[in-house]
Amino acid sequence: MKDEILSLLSPQYPWRETLAYFPEIDSTNSRLKQLAQEGTPAGTALIAGHQTGGRGRKGRSFFSPEGVGIYLSILLRPQCEAAQLMHLTCATAVAMCDAMERVTGVRPGIKWTNDLVFGTRKLSGILTELGFTPQGGLDYAVVGIGVNCCQRETDFPPEIRDMAGSLAMMTGKNIDRAQVAASMLDALYRMNETLLTGVDAMFTQYRKDCVTLGHPVSLVRGGEVRHAFAETVDEAGALVVRYPDGHREAVNSGEVSVRGMYGYL
Ligand code: BTN
Repeated sequence: MKDEILSLLSPQYPWRETLAYFPEIDSTNSRLKQLAQEGTPAGTALIAGHQTGGRGRKGRSFFSPEGVGIYLSILLRPQCEAAQLMHLTCATAVAMCDAMERVTGVRPGIKWTNDLVFGTRKLSGILTELGFTPQGGLDYAVVGIGVNCCQRETDFPPEIRDMAGSLAMMTGKNIDRAQVAASMLDALYRMNETLLTGVDAMFTQYRKDCVTLGHPVSLVRGGEVRHAFAETVDEAGALVVRYPDGHREAVNSGEVSVRGMYGYL
């Protein structure tokens, strides 16, 4: 798998030496965080055939079965403060739309903040984790992405079958996982190049890709549910909503979960 991915990478891709493939691992994000603390360089990427402890956002697990998905984490060491990286998960989502479009010819949407979707089904999730120096400065960012590539609907466990999708379901075609992985690495490298300088252009694209915008949403905060209309995403990645009384609020993803009219989306 690793050689196949390397052979598919563009000639401009500079991080070949620090790509590692594991047939099985607990979590590529957990392993890469350990390596980051040991000083491994920016661009180090881990890809797994299967994760036994794949992690999602908000402490959830990420279903990571053998041979049908890509489970990838990459290490970045941006030269900035953590406060300047509020847009990292949004930038990753746009980069992943680019990567999936290049491989399949179909551009997925983004469910705010950072799920890639096709129709009402989730194709991919993103988990970004930051590490800090003992002095409190930003040390590294681990960006982890799981993509459902080859599954058919019945391959998903019953509890997520109605809301999970794959690139194969999206296109009706067979998917080459090595091509998906190479396209992801290439897009992540390009994202890193403009991470601090191309924020406005990235958000312009993000707002085009984000299927949450322009629709009614339910905001779930603690036990409370409020209905609102999703207007835009601001320059920090917060969702700007308008309530029925006209009041506006910018909500961030740690604080609320957003549901649309179709349950998950
Ligand atoms: C989510 O949907 O909540 C985020 C899922 C992120 C899953 C990826 S798979 C590669 C990397 N390793 C992990 O343990 N998680 C991320």
